[in-house]
Amino acid sequence: MAIALVTGPTAGIGKAFAVALARAGFDLVLVARDETRLAELAGCLSLDFGVDAEVLVADVGDGPSLAKVEERLRRTDLPISVLVNNAGLGVKAPFAKSDIREEQQMLDVLVRSVMRTTHAAVPGMVERGFGVVINVSSIASWVTGGTYSAAKAWVTVFSESLAQELIGTGVRVTAVCPGYVHTEFHDRAGMDMSNIPDWMWLEAEQVVEQAMRDVSRNRPLSVAGAQYKALSLLLRYAPRPLVRFATATSRVSGRFGRR
Ligand SMILES: NC(=O)c1ccc[n+]([C@@H]2O[C@H](COP(=O)([O-])OP(=O)(O)OC[C@H]3O[C@@H](n4cnc5c(N)ncnc54)[C@H](OP(=O)(O)O)[C@@H]3O)[C@@H](O)[C@H]2O)c1
Repeated sequence: MAIALVTGPTAGIGKAFAVALARAGFDLVLVARDETRLAELAGCLSLDFGVDAEVLVADVGDGPSLAKVEERLRRTDLPISVLVNNAGLGVKAPFAKSDIREEQQMLDVLVRSVMRTTHAAVPGMVERGFGVVINVSSIASWVTGGTYSAAKAWVTVFSESLAQELIGTGVRVTAVCPGYVHTEFHDRAGMDMSNIPDWMWLEAEQVVEQAMRDVSRNRPLSVAGAQYKALSLLLRYAPRPLVRFATATSRVSGRFGRR
């Protein structure tokens, strides 16, 4: 059976990816820090879908730990066909007041780990003539919402560029750009989301279903939900000063970019 490696599958969007991939018949390599949750998930996936689920305990923001993930991605005996770079976190404080160690951790997880895992996985995929890389970015990659937006802008542009570079190789790359999703993300960052209206929230399963459809259609970008499809078009085609103004004065100002 083909194998998919998912980072951050212990909660939220990553968990929904792990379930969807197991349902589609993929064996899994599950990468995150919480060993207990990883083992529980691996057990459930094996039981529910009859797939093999391997647990790889790693902090993808930490160099030596990330090296273990790269090593797994380079293995040729049990090759990875699908890489889902999903692990992520947000920093609540604005840049001038934030803790630089938290900023560094966020950059390492959102950007460095995505670059390194993709770089480890893609050559083998090209050689085998088949592979899928799914990078979970954000609608925030099109706004001016601080360092989180900046990191996600890197993920979106990187994914679009690589998708283009790999045309004709059999390897597909898709950036998934969700709006607000009900997960553990905001609680973990200590963000108060009580002023976000209901219509702006998505479920993780909805994001993943859309992503799987877009991957099968070989689309470089995936945006779930009619509201976010419209918003992403506006953001991508609106003049930049307007985007900066809208981000700063939005009802969800200050949090608009941190998702
Ligand atoms: N929720 C939203 O509104 C939203 C919107 C747009 C984009 N996103 C993006 O979606 C992705 C998934 O977020 P989510 O909302 O599903 O968040 P979540 O529910 O908080 O889950 C985050 C996952 O990432 C893992 N993780 C975090 N730091 C890690 C590290 N250093 N090393 C390994 N694993 C790590 C966590 O596992 P452990 O704690 O077990 O390590 C967990 O499985 C992120 O890239 C996020 O930026 C989220």
